[in-house]
Amino acid sequence: MRLDKLLSEVGLCSRTECKKAAKAGRITVDGVAVKSADMHIDPEKNVITYLGQPVEYKKFTYIMLNKPEGYISATDDKKDHTVLELLDERTQKLGLFPCGRLDKNTLGLLILTNDGELCHRLLSPKHHVSKVYYFRAERLITDEDKERLESGVNLDGEMTKPAKLMLYEDRMSGQLTLTEGKFHQVKRMLEAVCNKITYLERVEFAGIPLDTDLKRGEWRELSTDEEAHLRSFLN
Ligand code: URA
Repeated sequence: MRLDKLLSEVGLCSRTECKKAAKAGRITVDGVAVKSADMHIDPEKNVITYLGQPVEYKKFTYIMLNKPEGYISATDDKKDHTVLELLDERTQKLGLFPCGRLDKNTLGLLILTNDGELCHRLLSPKHHVSKVYYFRAERLITDEDKERLESGVNLDGEMTKPAKLMLYEDRMSGQLTLTEGKFHQVKRMLEAVCNKITYLERVEFAGIPLDTDLKRGEWRELSTDEEAHLRSFLN
């Protein structure tokens, strides 16, 4: 891979900046200052420094974001703030995108990555990856509603797949586990039983719980274990 491509992919500099830094002797490969930024390197083998700092290369990045209200799950938008804007400048350059969507007023766990294959796998209806939502509803949820929500409701002609509903004591809030991701699914499911969502937060995705140390709008990279867990869906 070209050195300038690597340095721009890890978000350290643009290709032009990289060219200038090479000319100024500010990039080293295996301890030797390089003259040209278009040389080919092997990021797994060569040791690279940029402005005296070692360059850590990761093919893919996986981020856990605690999404606040008011942001849309997109990479750019003319009207609204996007979840990408919550990341720092360097991380924004990594080509990340949200793996799935949360509505503008839905909070909680959103994974951002630049691993298209894994994201596709996690979202594919074939693979039944689970998502857990904490919700509050406008009215009481009866035993009959629970039974319908769990066994499947009709959303514009399509039945929802079996779901798990854990109701809290007040019977107006709980956790709903889905293995699919239809458009506005939780809100529409509650509407199908003549109720309405007043608060919605995703608390788990693909078996990874939302890190409760993350405040709204905060994010961190997935841990090695979390990353390995997600990548195991590719097997
Ligand atoms: N279901 C919804 O209705 N909204 C979301 O954001 C996620 C699931």
